[in-house]
Amino acid sequence: IDELIAEGVTGKRVFVRADLNVPLSGTTITDDGRIRAVQPTVEKLVAAGARVVVASHLGRPKGAPDPAFSLAPAAARLGELIGADVAFATDTVGESARATVAALGDGEVAVLENLRFNPGETSKDDAERGEFADRLAELADLYVGDGFGAVHRKHASVFDLPARLPHAAGDLIATEVGVLKKLTENVERPYAVVLGGSKVSDKLGVIDHLLERADRILIGGGMAYTFLKAQGHEVGSSLLQEDQIPAVLEYLKRAENRGVEFVLPVDVVVSAQFPDLKAKAPTEHRTVPADAMPAGFMGLDNGPETNALYASKLADAATVFWNGPMGVFEHPDYAEGTRAVAQALVDSSGFSVVGGGDSAAAVRTLGFDENAFGHISTGGGASLEYLEGKTLPGLAALED
Ligand code: 3PG
Repeated sequence: IDELIAEGVTGKRVFVRADLNVPLSGTTITDDGRIRAVQPTVEKLVAAGARVVVASHLGRPKGAPDPAFSLAPAAARLGELIGADVAFATDTVGESARATVAALGDGEVAVLENLRFNPGETSKDDAERGEFADRLAELADLYVGDGFGAVHRKHASVFDLPARLPHAAGDLIATEVGVLKKLTENVERPYAVVLGGSKVSDKLGVIDHLLERADRILIGGGMAYTFLKAQGHEVGSSLLQEDQIPAVLEYLKRAENRGVEFVLPVDVVVSAQFPDLKAKAPTEHRTVPADAMPAGFMGLDNGPETNALYASKLADAATVFWNGPMGVFEHPDYAEGTRAVAQALVDSSGFSVVGGGDSAAAVRTLGFDENAFGHISTGGGASLEYLEGKTLPGLAALED
């Protein structure tokens, strides 16, 4: 972006593809990390006198306007953060977008409505995506890619639009890629990886790749129960992906052959019911050994012995990558496992990267200082796919 600015952006319309896909409760933003993450790029362009057009997706609307997925709250928050009025276009490439962009003065900022309100944004059809990208290109002179969280998506604003405009990477993308390189090139060892979240199937690619690279892989969250089941333990009514058991068994075997330590929970917190995440009222729960889960109970968090075990496995790690919560951290009864991993990273002197919207939000909502970690990535799927060694469309589009 600095080169682009040096060439002169004053009076130019600069399209900034951000990832403002923030968690919302109604119209209240519950974690504004992704908006703060793009702030430096927006402020740099404002200071250079550009006319800044910020665009993003939010959630997964079905290719048509849906008020529940409006970016209006994110636009308002961006305005508060940069301390300036931010105009808001109520469509993506229609009358409102054209008028809002045309009304921008030098150093002013506008946000377009959710790009996924247009079916062209996510279309698998190159022509349909290209058509939408053509219309977006009419709104700008230059393109800055800074939505790291979406670079793994081959979407019109991420992949097709940069091909139509002079383009550069923003500061957020540059930082994120710089950090992830430290996890893929000349990694300092021991290298520990903590994977959580609900589905094993989301993590297959990254486990496959990391088995060749990591020294320790610690598993938690809903996905742990498929591993425990694969080891022959009963998991009650816990989340389970039976169809993934063969893959899991193969991973466990490969890990053993390669000398990669696979660490699974030794005790878990169980309850007969999934907690109400809104009311957050105290629930009935108890801790049981991971190999003696009672029928009819579901595992919702790592237990205290597991927390101590995981902390010991992270204490001397020189590099740690963590993606996915260890339990239902949104409820106080099941937040301890996630808190314990976060605390272990804070206490360790190694370089720690927290990847993923959920884990990053967990760390912040549990009250940790984000500066206590090596890096908190704004990308979940994006950072996982980067670690898998995949070509990310949004990065490839900026590289040429
Ligand atoms: C994310 O939250 O990981 C990014 O914003 C991408 O969102 P998506 O998975 O809906 O494409």
